[in-house]
Amino acid sequence: MRKQIAAANWKMNLTIQEAEILIDKLVSEDSSLQSNQTTIYGVPFPYLSIVLSTLEGKNKGFAAAQNCSERNNGAFTGEVSAAMLRSMGVEFVILGHSERREHYGENSAMLVEKLNRAFESKLKPIFCCGEPLHIREANMHNSYVEDQLKETLFNFSGSQLNGFIIAYEPIWAIGTGKTASTQQAQEMHAHIRTVLANHFGSSVSDSISILYGGSVKASNAKELFGQPDVDGGLVGGSSLVADEFATIIKSLKS
Ligand code: PGA
Repeated sequence: MRKQIAAANWKMNLTIQEAEILIDKLVSEDSSLQSNQTTIYGVPFPYLSIVLSTLEGKNKGFAAAQNCSERNNGAFTGEVSAAMLRSMGVEFVILGHSERREHYGENSAMLVEKLNRAFESKLKPIFCCGEPLHIREANMHNSYVEDQLKETLFNFSGSQLNGFIIAYEPIWAIGTGKTASTQQAQEMHAHIRTVLANHFGSSVSDSISILYGGSVKASNAKELFGQPDVDGGLVGGSSLVADEFATIIKSLKS
């Protein structure tokens, strides 16, 4: 059975003091995860150590980086490699977030390299895709997202993608308070699963967790996660508020 996942994306927010208070609160929440559920905290690089040590041995989730380099190692000042992250015990990495595509010029070719580095280091990617508003308004969203997947994930094998994680995040819904309707989310998630099934086979596509991202909140999580192809969420703003995110975790399907 594929995993149901509540993934936090703190982005470039919080001081270390605020981050410690937040992760401590979430870890002390009196709720345990079911065997098919996972919580992942995508935090800024300097906070990974503290989040890793707070989570250690508690069955309350995993840490994720929000990016990694497309290079192995060497003279690349300011970059962080997949191998470095893995060596400190980080399990996951968010790749291809629309903010990185938009502000840091990440394209499909670069993302293939980042995925390669992650797989080589046994760092599990949370791979983001999603369309901008003008594509949605032109009713081109299905083919747009399909192309994003073809240009990247189709370079890998079915066995590499077994149990993989994709986050569908319509750009017009990120940080805008505008959530895709449950129907829009389910339709796109079903489309993504069909695209993957046609290429990799249904046993691979059925194993892939497809998260919805874009203004997920405590008040809409249950309905979104209740859709058959929505396997949880990648959550920005609401993951910065302990009570909100705790409710989002509790909204996962069991
Ligand atoms: P949001 O961000 O929940 O603040 O819309 C989601 C994301 O960008 O991952």
